[in-house]
Amino acid sequence: MNTDSYVQFFRQTSPYIHAHRGKTFVIALGGDAIAHGNCHRTLHDIALLQSLGIRLVLIHGARPQIDKRLALSSIDTSFAQQLRITDSEAMLCVKEAVGSTRLIIESELSMGLPNSPMHGAQLTVVGGNFMAAKPVGVRNGIDFQNTGEVRRIDADAIEQQLVLGSMVLMSPIGFSPTGESFNLNYQDVAAHVAIALDAEKLILVSQAGGIMADGNLLRNLSLPEVNRLKENSTNGSEQSLLACAYRACNNGVDRVHLVSCAEDGALLSELFTREGSGTLIMKDHSEVIRPATIDDVGGILDLISPLEDQQVLVKRSRELLETEISRFMVVVHPEGLLLGCAALYPTMEESSGELACVATHPEFHDQGIATRLLEKIEVDAKSQGMSTLFALTTQTAHWFLEKGFIEVQVADLPAQKQSLYNYQRNSRIFSKAI
Ligand SMILES: CC(C)(COP(=O)(O)OP(=O)(O)OC[C@H]1O[C@@H](n2cnc3c(N)ncnc32)[C@H](O)[C@@H]1OP(=O)(O)O)[C@@H](O)C(=O)NCCC(=O)NCCS
Repeated sequence: MNTDSYVQFFRQTSPYIHAHRGKTFVIALGGDAIAHGNCHRTLHDIALLQSLGIRLVLIHGARPQIDKRLALSSIDTSFAQQLRITDSEAMLCVKEAVGSTRLIIESELSMGLPNSPMHGAQLTVVGGNFMAAKPVGVRNGIDFQNTGEVRRIDADAIEQQLVLGSMVLMSPIGFSPTGESFNLNYQDVAAHVAIALDAEKLILVSQAGGIMADGNLLRNLSLPEVNRLKENSTNGSEQSLLACAYRACNNGVDRVHLVSCAEDGALLSELFTREGSGTLIMKDHSEVIRPATIDDVGGILDLISPLEDQQVLVKRSRELLETEISRFMVVVHPEGLLLGCAALYPTMEESSGELACVATHPEFHDQGIATRLLEKIEVDAKSQGMSTLFALTTQTAHWFLEKGFIEVQVADLPAQKQSLYNYQRNSRIFSKAI
């Protein structure tokens, strides 16, 4: 990457850095992610999130590590209802495997070598008895023995550590008030913690990554879609990811991200780029259409600059945009991303206005965004006493025709606009009575 594109990239990440700072993210890191060759990169990226002011609780799994440890002792365990039945012999192996997995994480997060991304990170990682567990008990005649489930999360104790700037690391073993230990499902722990902390995000990092359908990654899912996929999925790990996401989202966690551990940098691109890398699940899926503010100038420029270069839109400088920002309406994704914009310029005649700079982010075309913006602008224009809208375009004539505009001539434009008409650009002119 050359310096210019690096600077450009860095600037583009700033809205996300601002949006995430001070927020609480719960990350569930599967045992498969820890066994993967990318593990140290994933953990160093997690450390970077902490350095950017995100309050982190990291919950790790250890299923492959437990399998390996059990195999070493020639112990066979069986599964029922997607849970391992953990007898007391197996529990010893669970403790060892979970303990050594935790140490791998702690050692990676303690690195500080000058030639590593961890140089200067000086992270404090804390653990403790932040949750109480209870036995699963006997279900359908099956005694799950030392397999347990979360009974209570001590959110205040976790909060105290987060306030001190520490990263909280939790393992999937919980203790009952009787002093017994229980083998827990790490995703279940993560969902409980995220709900108890009222976290902004729960991020599930595993080999499964995002949800695929017909070979395509599903980037966004609503809660009803998650429920439907969960019911229909035949893949066990996908099912448990979806169940965990559903539970968290349905109980107050704003967003759940499913991210791959196998793709280098997937976590960072999910959190700091518009495109993301995995699947985002949101309870409230609806975008907001609102008047633009000065803080939207950067986002609008990012959106319209490529279209200006292609001469689809007329060039506007940053200064001009800043001056005219009150004329703009923007569509904003629940994640804060700018999806579309349009401007309404009143003409001297006051009864008419010019609709200009209509643009939708290319990743979000054909979802009705521009149509909804137009509807909003029409309401706005009417409330300002306008009865006609004009629009000038070189390449989007049919879109305007389909939205009820009719083609008119330069002579039909308000007098002031006629004198400014650029004959070289030769735009077609459309008008709509509103
Ligand atoms: C035109 C534009 C704003 C539409 O945005 P959008 O959010 O995708 O629009 P909607 O989802 O409301 O409408 C999509 C429909 O318009 C159609 N459409 C999009 N661009 C079109 C074009 N240039 N000509 C004709 N139809 C077009 C799509 O095919 C789709 O039709 P369908 O519903 O039958 O499949 C977007 O394509 C864009 O940003 N274009 C570049 C900027 C531009 O030309 N602006 C207008 C000049 S001010």
